[in-house]
Amino acid sequence: MTASLHNIKVLLGITGGIAAYKTPDLVRKLTQQGAEVRVVVTSSAKSFVSPLSLQAVSGNTVSDDLLDPMAEAAMGHIELAKWADVLLIAPATANFIAKLAHGMADDLLSTLCLATQAPVFIAPAMNQQMWQAQATVANMQTLSDRGVGVFGPAQGEQACGDVGPGRMLEPEELVNALSQNLIQPVLQGKKIVITAGPTREHLDPVRYITNYSSGKMGFALARAAHLMGAEVVLVSGPVNLPTPSVSKFHKVVTAQNMLDAVMGEISDSDIFIGCAAVADYRPVESVNHKIKKSNEEMSLSFVRNPDILANVAALENAPFTVGFAAETQNVSGYAKDKLERKKLNMIAANDVSKKDIGFNSDDNQLHVFWKDGDVLLDRADKLTLATQLLTLISEHYYDA
Ligand code: PMT
Repeated sequence: MTASLHNIKVLLGITGGIAAYKTPDLVRKLTQQGAEVRVVVTSSAKSFVSPLSLQAVSGNTVSDDLLDPMAEAAMGHIELAKWADVLLIAPATANFIAKLAHGMADDLLSTLCLATQAPVFIAPAMNQQMWQAQATVANMQTLSDRGVGVFGPAQGEQACGDVGPGRMLEPEELVNALSQNLIQPVLQGKKIVITAGPTREHLDPVRYITNYSSGKMGFALARAAHLMGAEVVLVSGPVNLPTPSVSKFHKVVTAQNMLDAVMGEISDSDIFIGCAAVADYRPVESVNHKIKKSNEEMSLSFVRNPDILANVAALENAPFTVGFAAETQNVSGYAKDKLERKKLNMIAANDVSKKDIGFNSDDNQLHVFWKDGDVLLDRADKLTLATQLLTLISEHYYDA
């Protein structure tokens, strides 16, 4: 499968080095590969490249100021940080590398580096002596320990006349390096139905039973599946998240609504992932007037909701079916039991007894089981984990 940047949102940060003059060509090559590009320049970068040229080639306004009310009103810096699938800084000067290594946030680009969850790649460009200086070497070590990807620099003759390492890679080399380091479209042509978020089961017009699911994990799966080329149908309970780019989005409330939406989509789907925290029970009756208080005690009766995951897995032409298991004790044991009982292809066990992973957290950790194997996906942000889980699913899907 060839690498491409189709649908990838690239935030290109340009800092003040002579190689900045090559960035309009870099933007053009990125967009030719299918990427959507937004550009952020530092104030010194503007001495080497014109924001107007960058706006013309990217088709988007170029941002340069953290405190510009007009730019903030159009797309605020946090929104821009969340928009990006990847942040590429090219050229990255010695000064900007030092700022990044020290976590400074004194301009728009360095602030975005701290505010984004997207992977960050840098293309260093500087004089060969500056590149080999102890401070730069230490800063680069810090960044690589932190997972920042580095493209280059190349060896050769430099603008100042020196010869040695420090030249920015050529635009074409940068585009190739980026596409090879990003999510690959291994799910191209596959339809994936994903459930996310909680369901609400109404007691009366003003009260309902629900749980702590925020939808973050399911939405991250939808986003990653879209980036991997799949046709994604996301069926979500009530959440407070921006809708990711997907082919179809079904907003539902109750478990029954969720089942109906899933069953309407499932017949031609290839993969189903049940990430929603579906209420197992609903009140026997939901009255259409507000329940008034009367006695000191009150009891409610519940009936079982349909099990969406089990219903999908039991279909005659069932898609590759993946469940989640949210547990607070005996996590692996209960997950393996669900894998077998619900006749699933795979299950991701989620220990929800810990506050910093699972429900409503930005990070998670998953122990994934299938018939004759398992793998522990270490703690990471939910988009990274979603990508790892989908890669695993695609390997097993194509093996099946
Ligand atoms: O949304 P976040 O805040 O990001 O949190 C993520 C998460 C913790 C909700 C998620 O990672 C997770 O673990 N989801 C599954 C939650 C759950 O309901 O687990 P369960 O063990 O009760 O259910 C097992 C499986 O059956 C799940 O795939 C569930 O979607 C499915 N199910 C359960 C009941 C039901 N009536 N229908 C179902 O389809």
